[in-house]
Amino acid sequence: MQKVAIIGAGRVGETTAQVLAQQETCREVVLIDIREDTAQGVALDITQMAPLFHFDTRLSGSGDPAAMADADVVVITAGVPRKPGMSRSDVLEVNVKVIDGIVDEVLRHAPQAIILMVTNPVDVLTYRTWQRTAWPRERVLGQAGVLDASRMAAFIAMETGFSSKDITTIVLGGHGDAMVPVPRFCTVNGIPVSHFIDDARMAEIVQRTRDGGAEILSLRKISSAYDAPGAAVAAMVDAIAHNRRRLLPGVAILDGEYGLRDIAMGVPCILDRQGLSRVVELPLTEAEAEAFRQSADGVRGDIARLP
Ligand code: 2OP
Repeated sequence: MQKVAIIGAGRVGETTAQVLAQQETCREVVLIDIREDTAQGVALDITQMAPLFHFDTRLSGSGDPAAMADADVVVITAGVPRKPGMSRSDVLEVNVKVIDGIVDEVLRHAPQAIILMVTNPVDVLTYRTWQRTAWPRERVLGQAGVLDASRMAAFIAMETGFSSKDITTIVLGGHGDAMVPVPRFCTVNGIPVSHFIDDARMAEIVQRTRDGGAEILSLRKISSAYDAPGAAVAAMVDAIAHNRRRLLPGVAILDGEYGLRDIAMGVPCILDRQGLSRVVELPLTEAEAEAFRQSADGVRGDIARLP
């Protein structure tokens, strides 16, 4: 892959750029921010890591949206993060204005790109972007489930003391308090996680996963999470850039899957060079399906608030 544009040179944008550069996922990363100096400073700082980490990805920073021209993937991280005590939905009104302006610039300068939405509330802003672009759903995705599943895997690793390399997890639904971690599909190298963790303890891990973002925010106080979010975005970009056909949870526009359409939700996605290749439908138990429906209701509530 040649070029990834990251809109928003805040902490998530910066970490994403750093991981993409270090992993040489693409030839070029451009960070774009209305604070041009910040974008340039971030790009320069990461560039100065290159001799230490032996990568030669080219980085630049700009205040000009035209710098995204010909990007293969546009990652949107710009917007206002929530403050302690706020939900992700509380930043909808302010962030939708920011996102609308950015999407118009993407339509102008990178009309062939794949958009990866990161800004919260990510499900509803992915939906908004799909509507505003009128692009096929293959090219409009959001990041949430990779982060949530990684959090859940980290908690299972902490609980069992096993290597996180062996732990596979899946989280469905909206990226909010009603997200749906699914322990039934979690394994330690293929062995169901229930072999190692009892139901009561697993329920606590599920809840901690749901609260994962709020826990980091309450500890950091002046910042939301950005290390794991940036790495999660980079994992999705990597799957696209290398045409890996990875199965990752992503925010996708549903077209009848899980009995839903005209909504964006976290579901297992096959990601390849075209973006979303396919949504994978899992057979859910009645309880899991009910949790998924409740999560969908929350996302629909936010979509109804869109101006
Ligand atoms: C998180 O879960 C900010 O939504 C992001 O940390």
